[in-house]
Amino acid sequence: MSLLHIEDLDTYYGYVHALKGITLDVETGEIVTLIGANGAGKSTTLRAISGLIPIRGGSISFDGQPLNGVPAHKIVERGVSHAPEGRHIFGTLTVTENLNMGAYILGKDQDAITRNRERVFKLFPRLEERRRQLGGTLSGGEQQMLTIGRALMASPRLLLLDEPSLGLAPLLVRLIFDTIREINAAGVTVLLVEQNARAALKIAHRAYVMETGRITLAGDAAALLADERVRKAYLGEQ
Ligand SMILES: Nc1ncnc2c1ncn2[C@@H]1O[C@H](COP(=O)(O)OP(=O)(O)O)[C@@H](O)[C@H]1O
Ligand SMILES: [Mg+2]
Repeated sequence: MSLLHIEDLDTYYGYVHALKGITLDVETGEIVTLIGANGAGKSTTLRAISGLIPIRGGSISFDGQPLNGVPAHKIVERGVSHAPEGRHIFGTLTVTENLNMGAYILGKDQDAITRNRERVFKLFPRLEERRRQLGGTLSGGEQQMLTIGRALMASPRLLLLDEPSLGLAPLLVRLIFDTIREINAAGVTVLLVEQNARAALKIAHRAYVMETGRITLAGDAAALLADERVRKAYLGEQ
């Protein structure tokens, strides 16, 4: 049984039919990447999984339990954390306070909160150095680390990452991708949305390609990295 199973998923924004029958699976322990052009429906897929937009058709299940109609905070409690596109951190809160916000489902369990924070600081030493700094004064790369770190504070079994490399310098992109690998090696299953298809395919086990609300290709990441159609459309090759 897959950890995450999406079957024939349909979603709308008003009259806009954003997802047109998406079927995909993520197995425990995998890094699966969802690649595709701007507007393909990648972020919408993650929003539907985390309960931020309603499911109009089809189904999503996590660990064998349906997520249809489950409120977003309950989905976090079940073990799904979402690091959204565009780094929605709290600019007037410190790094530590931002991280603590991600741990709200742990309630008053200070030991667990401290343990998770230490784990995040180990992954991102830069955040520890800046733990008293306000979120709004961090660099883009540091804000991205904070977005991922905050999602990890809820002890997720499945981490949804939306464009973690967007707008970052090459060295930072590498650091972020290395860290995603490290997070996965520590036992967190990852669904990674990326426009940087090459970097995503290099760290993923499997991949899906999306085009205008549909999955058009799926397979092992290594096979897609070598696929002519992928190379032409997403890896900038002739
Ligand atoms: N809040 C919204 N309201 C209306 N349409 C939206 C909204 N968000 C996304 N869309 C539309 O849904 C489609 C998929 O968008 P999105 O999932 O953000 O794509 P991607 O993440 O692959 O770039 C696009 O046509 C986009 O214009
Ligand atoms: Mg997007």
